[in-house]
Amino acid sequence: MHSYEKLLQENKNWAAGKIKNDPDFFNQLAHLQSPEFLWIGCSDSRVPANEITGTQPGEIFVHRNVANLVINTDVNLLSVLDFAVNHLKVKHVIVCGHYGCGGIKAAITKNDFKPVLNMWLRNIKDVYRIHRKELDEIEDAESKENRLTELNVQEQVFNLAKTSIIQKAWKAEQRPDLHGWVYGLKDGLIKPVFEMKAGTHIDELYEYDDL
Ligand code: CO
Repeated sequence: MHSYEKLLQENKNWAAGKIKNDPDFFNQLAHLQSPEFLWIGCSDSRVPANEITGTQPGEIFVHRNVANLVINTDVNLLSVLDFAVNHLKVKHVIVCGHYGCGGIKAAITKNDFKPVLNMWLRNIKDVYRIHRKELDEIEDAESKENRLTELNVQEQVFNLAKTSIIQKAWKAEQRPDLHGWVYGLKDGLIKPVFEMKAGTHIDELYEYDDL
């Protein structure tokens, strides 16, 4: 059996198990999804959004990319955000990073990862630059990476707040709240590190007054 065939077999087992517990499980989900949460997480295979939060299909709308970045020219991310906020009407957007993130580690090095990854990781180097004073003072390499992971999540929450998508929803419907979390690979626990309630003011340079 090829490795991918095992996935298909396990899928059959999983679907059968779900129906055994609740014969109506797939019928219900097929008609409607009304998740309360948008999750923006890292692509890392060790951080599965549903599993670590004990949620079921239908409960979390998920977008994942390398190092959970919110980039204002990323059509993929912005499409997900637009749909989640304006159609699914999510109440919370969670940016969840994780300690031990390869993207964060790579961004701290001076290695050339070739054009596309360099472009992506540049955004994390920018986060470092914004918080250079604090980060330069941390001597232990792992502690420095961990703090950058937290600050990266914080900056991505700010990046969400800078979008007209979020600002418009805040103004019209006082939602969603924004959350910055970091997951620990070593203990499986999520640490909330930053929060921005709907309607929070940010640097006025980024605030639209004609939404
Ligand atoms: Co990662």
